[in-house]
Amino acid sequence: MYYNLYKSIYRNLIVGLDTKIPITNGNAVTAINFDNAATTPPLVSVLKEIVNYAPWYSSIHRGSGYKSIVSSKIYEDSRKIVLDFVGGDILKDTVIYVKNTTEAINKLSNTLYGDDKCNLILSSNMEHHSNDLPWRNKYNVDYISVNKCGKLDLRDLEYKLRKNRGRVKLVTVAGASNVTGYVNPIYSIAALTHRYGAKVLIDGAQLVPHAPIDIKPHNSEDHIDYLVFSAHKMYAPFGTGVLIGPIDTFRDSAPDYVGGGTVEIVNHNYIKWKEPPDKDEAGSPNIMGVVALVSSIRTLKSLGMNNIKNYEDLLTEYTINRLKDLPEVKMYCVSDKFNDRVGIIPFNINGIPHDITAKILSYEWGIAVRNGCFCAQSYVRELLNVSEEEEEYYIKDSSIKRPGMVRISFGMYNDYREIDLMVKAISKIIENKEYYLSKYGGETMA
Ligand code: ALA
Repeated sequence: MYYNLYKSIYRNLIVGLDTKIPITNGNAVTAINFDNAATTPPLVSVLKEIVNYAPWYSSIHRGSGYKSIVSSKIYEDSRKIVLDFVGGDILKDTVIYVKNTTEAINKLSNTLYGDDKCNLILSSNMEHHSNDLPWRNKYNVDYISVNKCGKLDLRDLEYKLRKNRGRVKLVTVAGASNVTGYVNPIYSIAALTHRYGAKVLIDGAQLVPHAPIDIKPHNSEDHIDYLVFSAHKMYAPFGTGVLIGPIDTFRDSAPDYVGGGTVEIVNHNYIKWKEPPDKDEAGSPNIMGVVALVSSIRTLKSLGMNNIKNYEDLLTEYTINRLKDLPEVKMYCVSDKFNDRVGIIPFNINGIPHDITAKILSYEWGIAVRNGCFCAQSYVRELLNVSEEEEEYYIKDSSIKRPGMVRISFGMYNDYREIDLMVKAISKIIENKEYYLSKYGGETMA
């Protein structure tokens, strides 16, 4: 596959990449977005599909009008398209539409909850808060450690599975970290987990938009039991998230949200829930969100997820190598391997607080990055070696500025040109550190 690395071949597929934004010197520059792990801009094809579908927009499962029938069919047919994209089994798996990954994990945590002895969840120290907090209020939770490079410690996973044999309900880990971009060995994790009789959930928010994924047949030891991801991180805004899992899991549980669309028959003394996924999608479904998601899946499939991954690997390799030439830049968890991660690079500039670096990049160069702890405070603290005493100090006074990182995260439309501009900007910040610190008011810390 030939890539023009100085102008992404995917650039024309995305909306808004030529948008001019103001910077502090009064000029307008073309915005650069290196914050794709937070959300991605829409695909042109997605917006076109929304406009094409709009004349047909109508209620789902709630009308006998022609448009309602058409809309309901589009909505129902979409589940197979989503399952095909990730190798799911239409006879055994269900696709439940929610708002986003966070809601999907909350829903699964409510669904799996039962009055049984098997109520230990193994999350990990590299998780986003959305794959930690939803488990805490109902289950016992333990955390698989990460090693000093920030990678999941599989020996610790095995140790915890062995020690708690028969008590582990679920192992739940990120497909790729939203902080370091590390891609976890999800199939080895699934096989190990199954050997100890537990199930596995992969938080696919950062993986599904950037690499191929196959949840594999149910009888495979590598099968991914549950998968969640968000459309807004895969170029399809409009508020849809996906929870995939065995139909039986959802058939046997009461829904967490109840109301319209969830019941087969009800009177004041009796309720018969509908079959999944309907019983788990209370209220009017978000058809526009689903149309957007399906359109994005079609485009990504036609481009080829392997091609997207290979291209984004080249961006990552190039950036890491360019930033390595700047001794004042400290990158976290980078090695000489680039294919075991998605395009996420966390860093700091010596002596400049993370929030100030992000502000300067935005205000002076029009480059958007994210800074802080990225909703993964435990992981970031561990990578930054923040001691327990120091943590206590921040807990006591939440107004104190806390340590964090600056994060670059790529989408398929970014390119070397944009990376060169960012490297130039970072070099200028380093050269003129004192000037920027006084202009943006940072105390010297990282
Ligand atoms: N989870 C998203 C991020 O990492 C919001 O930025």
